[in-house]
Amino acid sequence: MTQTTFTPRVFSGIKPSGGLTLGNYLGAIKRFVGMQGQMETIYCVVDMHAITVWQDPKELANMTREVAAGYLAAGLDPSQSILFNQSQVSAHAELGWIFNCVARVGWMNRMTQFKDKAGSNAEKVSLGLYAYPALMAADILLYHATHVPVGEDQKQHVELTRDIASKFNHDFKTEFFPLTTPVIEGPAMRIMNLRDGTKKMSKSGESDMERINMTDDADTIAKKFKKAKTDPAPLPETVEGLSDRPEARNLVEIYAALNDMTAEAVIAEYPGAGWGTFKPALADLAVAKLAPISEEMARFMADPAEIDRILGAGAVKARAIAEPILRQTYDIVGLLRS
Ligand code: AMP
Ligand code: TRP
Repeated sequence: MTQTTFTPRVFSGIKPSGGLTLGNYLGAIKRFVGMQGQMETIYCVVDMHAITVWQDPKELANMTREVAAGYLAAGLDPSQSILFNQSQVSAHAELGWIFNCVARVGWMNRMTQFKDKAGSNAEKVSLGLYAYPALMAADILLYHATHVPVGEDQKQHVELTRDIASKFNHDFKTEFFPLTTPVIEGPAMRIMNLRDGTKKMSKSGESDMERINMTDDADTIAKKFKKAKTDPAPLPETVEGLSDRPEARNLVEIYAALNDMTAEAVIAEYPGAGWGTFKPALADLAVAKLAPISEEMARFMADPAEIDRILGAGAVKARAIAEPILRQTYDIVGLLRS
């Protein structure tokens, strides 16, 4: 069978489960902006994913606005991209249920992120946390998205999305869903914790010193980079010299991603440099790139009604694409519409 061709379309999302980090910016948002204008782009604040772990109802709406403010401040433009929050388009939950019935328990058991997050507590976490990759597949396939820009940690979930699309197409003898391509490229696909270069930088680590938040002010950004853990050796002369040095490699990769260059080019600019030289240069670069975004985020956050309006208008556009695809899915599955 020849694969049906689908119009190129980008979908991606971020959970409003805590403040945005530099990992979210470099691994996701900055790249979302880069794809805008090149093809149709749909970016979602995935609030239904956030509630797979407890969220204070009083905070959730504000966190949703804050992720939206991060999108807007970084350069996503509601006239060029569809921006909305997931719960305003109920088709996500509906297609998510169908995919719960397509995905196999054995597939879910292989998801490494679930194993990491649930740890020894797997009996006590929500069923939603276990099933969430099927909802993520629904987020993507509800728009027949062909490209999904994500950080390295999401690769397995986009591969699962392809498995779900293939099994659906095979079981129902159709070519209805595309096999989506994960877009994971560039130097910053896995930004590490500033205090421990073996752990991913995340919204929820214990200490604020281990991450850069998109809302941090210039002094805080500079302080966090200057205190970042490193080994004592200077930077190597070639990029190969970073291979067993996770903290050093992380700082070089952050510099590269912030400045749109490769890690090789950073090393060529700072061969053999000591931390006393490189850390202040990195801090200055990060402040120059991030401070304008954090100021713009604060400006958006001062007008929540405007953010709500943008998300509501985006949801109308999202529904116009999603609802016909959901209806066709129901027809393929044989769910009666009368
Ligand atoms: P989340 O905050 O888990 O909803 O992640 C949203 C997006 O940010 C996903 O595409 C992640 O892969 C990306 N992301 C989150 N943390 C990092 C990180 N430390 N490095 C690179 N990408 C990240
Ligand atoms: N699961 C992703 C994360 O934790 C967020 C997400 C949900 C997503 N749905 C998506 C990313 C669809 C890309 C496409 O980071």
